[in-house]
Amino acid sequence: MTIWTPSLEGRPGPKYMAIAEAIADDIAAGELETGQRLPTHRDLAYRLGVTVGTVSRAYAEISRRGLTVGEVGRGTFVSSNGKTGAMGGALDTLVSPSVFHRAPRADIIDMSMNRPTTGQAGEHLAGVMGRLAQSDGLGILTEYQPPFGMPSHREAGAKLLRGIGMQADPGAVILTNGGQHAMAALLLALVDPGDVVLTEALTYPAVKALAQAMSFRLKSVAMDGDGMIPEALEAACRKSRPRAIYIMPTLHNPLNAIMPLERRRAIAEICERHGVAIIEDDVYGFLPAERPAPVCTYAPEQGYFITSTSKSIAPGLRVGYVVAPPGKSETIGRAVQMTGWMIPPLMGEIASRWIEDGTAAELIAWHRENARFRMALAKKVLDGFDMVSHPESYHIWLKLPASLAAERLIGICMQRGIAVSPPQSFTLDGDPVPNAVRLCLGSADTMKLLEKGLRVLRDIIDAPSQPDLALF
Ligand SMILES: Cc1ncc(COP(=O)(O)O)c(C=O)c1O
Repeated sequence: MTIWTPSLEGRPGPKYMAIAEAIADDIAAGELETGQRLPTHRDLAYRLGVTVGTVSRAYAEISRRGLTVGEVGRGTFVSSNGKTGAMGGALDTLVSPSVFHRAPRADIIDMSMNRPTTGQAGEHLAGVMGRLAQSDGLGILTEYQPPFGMPSHREAGAKLLRGIGMQADPGAVILTNGGQHAMAALLLALVDPGDVVLTEALTYPAVKALAQAMSFRLKSVAMDGDGMIPEALEAACRKSRPRAIYIMPTLHNPLNAIMPLERRRAIAEICERHGVAIIEDDVYGFLPAERPAPVCTYAPEQGYFITSTSKSIAPGLRVGYVVAPPGKSETIGRAVQMTGWMIPPLMGEIASRWIEDGTAAELIAWHRENARFRMALAKKVLDGFDMVSHPESYHIWLKLPASLAAERLIGICMQRGIAVSPPQSFTLDGDPVPNAVRLCLGSADTMKLLEKGLRVLRDIIDAPSQPDLALF
């Protein structure tokens, strides 16, 4: 019997991740079977010419994905090849909680959902739950709490926010069930039916759904590579008398723009002067290592800041944070209460413990690094294409040649097993629709799968198939 050794050839990124990816691929391909024992850390380290620590990290990574189980004194065993067995199936369900977010067909490589790669949060969850189980006074987590969140959770939130340059008194921090809930609560509190809310020329689709549900009107404001253009905002404020603007100045979705400091000040000044509330969505703001201070920093009367743990810690936590201007927390708290009373204190507790013990910082760093590797891979595979990206972002805006309409590309992509986001998701009704698609790099479970999806995309753009005449 030949001794199994993973092949690291052509696998970019840190060594431990390359080993983990190779093992995951070999399990998926059936090279490693359910129940098979993996080599010892020392043995594999020797064969691959890496340190024992590197192999240990790789094994921890595949165990986190539910692909292996370790038994003290016996070794590491393949727990599932994703194909057979009740245990394998159950584990797959457990490690794929985002099944609803996945592309509808299992054979599709999903680059449409802006989901961070499933990181190491699961391991940390086991740790924090173990420690929680040993804690006294857990009863408090079973009680109703103030709609803003528990005082200790607001304090931890203020600490997390300081890490991205948002100085906030804990009394101004309100916990929500993620960024989406924060948007809904803020718009409910600040905007009446018929009011105008301004967005960037391309915007996050959820604000369109909220406008429809709450009957407020959206109008777009021109943007360039630095985000919303202040002169265009000034003109729109005069013309449309908006109640609020909704913007994403840090790693805009989908355009990746990071608004420079001077423009942040200008946008804040315009909104303060016109009495227009700023809803600043910063859910991607943890990803870039360098970023300017939030716009809200310069808008003490009108700035409402949103962040969440979804893109940089773990989306399943469903913990978001709003910072409201002085005297406005009550109103926002009431909107949170109206739409769900409060966040589950247990989730707030887990997030708070992670913030306090450094786990949150570790997970953020992991996502930043992972986004960096995935983006580097994408830029390599799609070299020469016209795209808007950022080295530490999970998404790309890919502009298409005039000869290939986005709609046609998306159709061919589905036929060839990949999903990407259509441009009209990000435009307001009646606005021009650019010929481009958004690619999300975090969803594919492995770098290899991502690379495969990107290569298929590249092939399609290089040589799109002829239109299927049978359709006409
Ligand atoms: C710009 C933006 N805001 C908010 C959200 C929702 O975040 P959460 O999962 O915290 O609700 C997303 C998710 O894709 C997003 O892209």
